[in-house]
Amino acid sequence: MVTALPWFSGNFPLYLAPMAGVTDKVFRQICKDYGADVLVTEFVSAEGVFRRNERTREYLDFGPCERPLGVQLFGADAAHMAEAAKHVVDWVAPDFIDLNFGCPVNKVVAKNGGSALLKDCPTLNSVAKAVVQAVAPLPVTAKIRIGWDADSVNAVRVAGILEDCGIAALAVHGRTRAQGYSGEADWRVIGEVKHYLAAGELLPPPELSERWNVIIGHCRTHAESWGDEEQAIRSMRARLMAYSKNFPAAKVLREKFQHVSTLSEIEAIAHDYLASVEPLELSSVM
Ligand SMILES: Cc1cc2nc3c(=O)[nH]c(=O)nc-3n(C[C@H](O)[C@H](O)[C@H](O)COP(=O)(O)O)c2cc1C
Repeated sequence: MVTALPWFSGNFPLYLAPMAGVTDKVFRQICKDYGADVLVTEFVSAEGVFRRNERTREYLDFGPCERPLGVQLFGADAAHMAEAAKHVVDWVAPDFIDLNFGCPVNKVVAKNGGSALLKDCPTLNSVAKAVVQAVAPLPVTAKIRIGWDADSVNAVRVAGILEDCGIAALAVHGRTRAQGYSGEADWRVIGEVKHYLAAGELLPPPELSERWNVIIGHCRTHAESWGDEEQAIRSMRARLMAYSKNFPAAKVLREKFQHVSTLSEIEAIAHDYLASVEPLELSSVM
């Protein structure tokens, strides 16, 4: 019997897609402030849970304001995954466990984890079943890709297996493992799995000044949580590059971001940038 997820009782909830290296605690809280209903951690290795290393503890850390939140686990051994899921529930009491059957990264699939399980349905079945039983009545959800490669698209079959295991909700990444993260997602297959967002209102993209507010707020919170501003801002450089995607004159911004190490430098870049593209919106950033 599959437990109904309470956050599906009204409008279709807005989920934050888990993204390793991106959806950490600070980022998730920004997304929550901007209306995300359900959050999922970055993927966490079941083996890392056993080792209880510092990095794994960071991945599992979340605040009460982030609920409902799921911890996403990956691994290929049913008994280990079930044990790791139980540990996670005991330590941090998430609202659900999410199983990663989509990661395409070589070092994960080489150990039969992530999307490799799409090619090994008996193991996928045993992993899902073991975790559902181990943490019941806590719900378990799953994330899959549409298949391993173009010749083995099997999302509908996998969805059936997972449903029979008692998986409470399924997210489908509309690409095969072979496609990685590029190319158009295949929405036809997602539609076949019947897991798509009901038509909603399409909001206009945020103003540049609003985007800078988020960037500066993110850097500030990150610096506060690290305690060492220079180290924190340097560690944000890759994020800043990602934020600048689709900004007009992004190349100039990326060059500047390569060298930033303080909040005031970022504020100065924002100031100069907005003065050059949107003089009227300056006051709303600082
Ligand atoms: C940098 C990055 C990291 C990701 N990490 C994870 C992850 O840890 N777990 C997961 O299930 N999906 C992960 N994904 C996949 C996303 O959650 C999402 O399913 C995918 O990007 C498809 O969305 P799109 O069609 O908008 O690109 C990651 C994607 C990116 C770009």
